[in-house]
Amino acid sequence: MRRILSLALIALFAISARATEVANEIIRIATDATDLILSTAPNGRLYQVYLGPKLLHPEDFAKLSPYSRAGSDGSAATRGWEAYMTAGMEDYFEPALQVTHADGNMSTLLKYVSSEKKSIDGNAEETVITLKDDYYPMEVKLHYISYAKENIIKTWSEISHTEKKPVLLHRYASGIIYFERPSYYLTEFSGDWAQEMQMSHQQLQFGKKMIDTKLGSRAAMHAYPFFELGFGEPAKEDAGEVVMGTIGWTGNYRFTFEIDNLKNLRVLAGINPFASTYELKPGEVFTTPEFIFTRSDNGKGEASRYFHDWARNYQLRDGKGDRLTLLNNWENTAFKFDEDILAGLMKEAKHLGVDMFLLDDGWFANKYPRNNDRAGLGDWEAMKAKLPHGVPGLVAKAKEAGVKFGIWIEPEMVNPKSELFEKHPDWAIHLPNRETYYYRNQLVLDLSNPEVQDYVFGVVDRIMTENPDIAYFKWDCNSPITNVYSPYLKEKQSQLYVDHVRGVYNVFQRVKEKYPNLPMMLCSGGGARCDYEALKYFTEFWCSDNTDPVERLFIQWGFSQFFPTKAMCAHVTSWNKRASIKFRTDVAMMCKLGFDIGLKELAPDELTYCQNAVANYKRLKPVILDGDFYRLVSPYETNHTAVMHVSKAKDKALVYAYDIYPRFAEKTFAVKLQGLDPNKQYKVEEINLMPGAKSRFAQNGQIFSGDYLMKVGLYAFTTQTLQSRILEVTAQ
Ligand code: GLA
Repeated sequence: MRRILSLALIALFAISARATEVANEIIRIATDATDLILSTAPNGRLYQVYLGPKLLHPEDFAKLSPYSRAGSDGSAATRGWEAYMTAGMEDYFEPALQVTHADGNMSTLLKYVSSEKKSIDGNAEETVITLKDDYYPMEVKLHYISYAKENIIKTWSEISHTEKKPVLLHRYASGIIYFERPSYYLTEFSGDWAQEMQMSHQQLQFGKKMIDTKLGSRAAMHAYPFFELGFGEPAKEDAGEVVMGTIGWTGNYRFTFEIDNLKNLRVLAGINPFASTYELKPGEVFTTPEFIFTRSDNGKGEASRYFHDWARNYQLRDGKGDRLTLLNNWENTAFKFDEDILAGLMKEAKHLGVDMFLLDDGWFANKYPRNNDRAGLGDWEAMKAKLPHGVPGLVAKAKEAGVKFGIWIEPEMVNPKSELFEKHPDWAIHLPNRETYYYRNQLVLDLSNPEVQDYVFGVVDRIMTENPDIAYFKWDCNSPITNVYSPYLKEKQSQLYVDHVRGVYNVFQRVKEKYPNLPMMLCSGGGARCDYEALKYFTEFWCSDNTDPVERLFIQWGFSQFFPTKAMCAHVTSWNKRASIKFRTDVAMMCKLGFDIGLKELAPDELTYCQNAVANYKRLKPVILDGDFYRLVSPYETNHTAVMHVSKAKDKALVYAYDIYPRFAEKTFAVKLQGLDPNKQYKVEEINLMPGAKSRFAQNGQIFSGDYLMKVGLYAFTTQTLQSRILEVTAQ
């Protein structure tokens, strides 16, 4: 009897061992708030089985079926959400990967091989999953990094093969994620020059909605590489499940949102495959850009703060460092200046109290001097007529004035009227057999060509070698790629869009390696370059040439969805003089503050006001640059807007309240603050007042509990046009 029992036990053990062998392998990619769970299936393939709020009990994972979302079409048994959907098999929707193999076969079927995990800095975890085609020697590695505290997941893939001849990659997304919800709402960001990051939303319906760009270099000019998803309703600020995503690619990107026959949503992010079939040689690895996303159950505000923290902790160059306030000369002088005028402006910068003077466009080129935007790009020697002592003369003047010195360049571009173009016409992207179309009178240099990469790196290197004291670069990029033809790539034209961007990164990387402590502003005719790959190399970016403070309130509202304050440059200028200097400055104060205005055109009390504002900004920088950001009242929904910064310790906050164009006798409402400690007492004081002006904020100087401020709020708005208030909130 005992023998029978033990035989039975052995048999049972064997069965359960076999069961474990064939059991689905679960791969959990988790942050503190979110689980992305992948599972293998008995067919050997890998599926997404869950993406949502973090699950409490790992024993539940086995109940998540890879095939549960299959249709009623008979193929049900083997259809699911493939972790990296390939073309040519039984799923007929948009694939992540589409390949023509060396023998002409256009199908790919990936099976799971293995996965490994490693910790990064104790807070993030990288998961690498290896998949292989079950017939062709092709491999895909899926990378996922999950940042626990910041609740960010980023994913990308590496594609390689050892087929006898090159294969053609037609589609090569960074990643794909799936959702099963009652309905889906997309918020997108569109724009143009001076209209960056305009937000709109729509309900997604069956089929595809794409957000993409084909502009090549000034890539985000019309469509910004960001999206927000709401489920059941448009993504809300302070409640509900939202997903927010972006792609780190400084060129043509594409997001595809596809609702399939089962009313499930697939989101693909990647390089835009438009005109970009890539020939991948045996042994070569094609690495896709990073698709970065977050998910929150408490609305976009929290999801934005996840992005802000993650950017400062991991992605943005010098994310934890300080930022310099500055005086720029572009809006003030444009191309009309000389050494004396600039020396005067440096003294003004010092008088204003900012850290640096930033010299903009127009300082270079001699044979074809850069006195307007029609000539000179490419010839990066100081223009003798304007600057007889060259850049060293300016650096010396800045030292004398007691400010740092920064300089503008646009090294990826060339004007046909330049010595560079005369010498190297084949370095510019342009068609050999058609009339040339110029955008801002210039052409894009062909950075797929390593010689051109050396030249562009050399622009920075030569300026820095001559002037090691230069403290800052503003790196511009005004033209999209026009006349799309690379003299270098010859018959491989379909690799231009990808290889060009890789060339740009090669230059960025070399600059960063050689000058690791040099802060740099990314600019692209305003804010048309603002992706998280470029921002590994740049400390900040220029949000828009539109510095009308009213427009800026919308633009900054848009960019703040994804970027921390310290990455967003905002300058006080003379755009929209109907707005007071106080209003203009109060708008710029919520970002990385700079000025681009002739101080001589200011009345004495206006100048004093600006000096005080700069001093306040410097005093409050730790809160503004490194605190938590809350969007309190949307300019899209009311005639007012308000935002706030709160220090991580919750002992200091700043509330920014703006009345845009209120209606006559409009009912004002209290602004409820966020992020404070409900049990702390806070004193509320208005700052940035015009000299001699008394605060008209009725609650000025009073003390409130954090609880009161968050539940009852402050009467910070007025019914007057273009009024602003900045309130300093200090724990007692
Ligand atoms: C672009 C930038 C501006 C300025 C000009 C100079 O338009 O966005 O800030 O630098 O170029 O030509």
